[in-house]
Amino acid sequence: MTYTIAFFGTKPYDEVSFDKVNKKFGFEIKYFKGHLNKNNVMLTQGADAVCIFVNDIADAEVLKVMADNGVRLLALRCAGYNNVDLSAAQANRITVVRVPAYSPYAVAEYTVALMLSLNRKIPRATWRTRDGNFSLHGLMGFDMHGKTVGIIGTGKIAKILIQILRGFGMNILAYDLYPDYNFAREHQVVYTTLDELYHNSDIISLHCPLTDTTKYLINDYSISKMKDGVMLINTGRGQLIHTNALIEGLKNKKIGYAGLDVYEEESEYFYEDKSDKIIDDDTLARLLSFPNVIVTSHQAFFTHEAMRNIATTTLENIKSYTEGKNLINEVKPK
Ligand SMILES: NC(=O)c1ccc[n+]([C@@H]2O[C@H](COP(=O)([O-])OP(=O)(O)OC[C@H]3O[C@@H](n4cnc5c(N)ncnc54)[C@H](O)[C@@H]3O)[C@@H](O)[C@H]2O)c1
Repeated sequence: MTYTIAFFGTKPYDEVSFDKVNKKFGFEIKYFKGHLNKNNVMLTQGADAVCIFVNDIADAEVLKVMADNGVRLLALRCAGYNNVDLSAAQANRITVVRVPAYSPYAVAEYTVALMLSLNRKIPRATWRTRDGNFSLHGLMGFDMHGKTVGIIGTGKIAKILIQILRGFGMNILAYDLYPDYNFAREHQVVYTTLDELYHNSDIISLHCPLTDTTKYLINDYSISKMKDGVMLINTGRGQLIHTNALIEGLKNKKIGYAGLDVYEEESEYFYEDKSDKIIDDDTLARLLSFPNVIVTSHQAFFTHEAMRNIATTTLENIKSYTEGKNLINEVKPK
């Protein structure tokens, strides 16, 4: 019998990459555009597995209905799993797998793109020249060389980022719950406390997962410890930053630049074309009004290579489950 997977939160580009890779696997895939939530979880009826992305919600209520519908596997086609209640999944006998790494290069390179775009004001310069304005007023940037970057979370993505930034001749301060001292020695990274990192960094970039400990890591208090005019980059998860505290920091000029690929309330907006609608979210609207802020729609992962790897690992995870093999990418409650 064909093994059926219900995909949620899908876009046309997901269908293209999964359909191509699925030729090798032969699963029956049902694509649903909506994000998985308690209102559409009934669509999991008849599915053996469910596949979700970053803005789908698999909380206790959703997982219970999935389990009642006979779903035994939840396959995340992303690395982060903060949107899944892992204890509830276990209680409902649903196995959870993810794609721990698909292209750390995609996210690391995008992080640098945000830094350079903010620093050298490339979006602003582009709008200007398109409008026939070739003046340089307000476009002055700074040399990256010799500046200090503070990296919070030094996992797969941050390690690639650090190597790129070392290429610019930047000094690297880092904080991680589990420091990698061998990597630090090899790449001249200095592990330090969060306070020291806030105090000494010209640019701060977030690469830790969203957990109970890291939720709102960047808040009024941590911002108050940062250098005046600091650049803050978030390609991690939206809730690492308390957005109203960030807005206050931007208003009082403590924060000089913010590059945000993620936003704490992103699920309403990101990945959707809302260009003919008024933005109801006043916090997002305020963020978009700053000339020194770049907001992008959770796109750091979005490269050809990453999409191919996501599809391949997701379907391999599902195949391993169906064959009763050891699940190397299983996620369990701590
Ligand atoms: N914007 C995007 O498109 C995109 C794509 C992929 C991943 N991400 C985000 O990037 C994050 C990092 O990805 P990765 O592949 O490098 O993950 P990883 O698991 O390789 O690295 C995470 C690092 O964070 C550290 N860490 C955990 N808790 C911490 C804490 N409280 N304080 C400091 N460090 C802590 C871990 O020890 C680890 O070294 C993911 O969790 C995900 O949220 C975003």
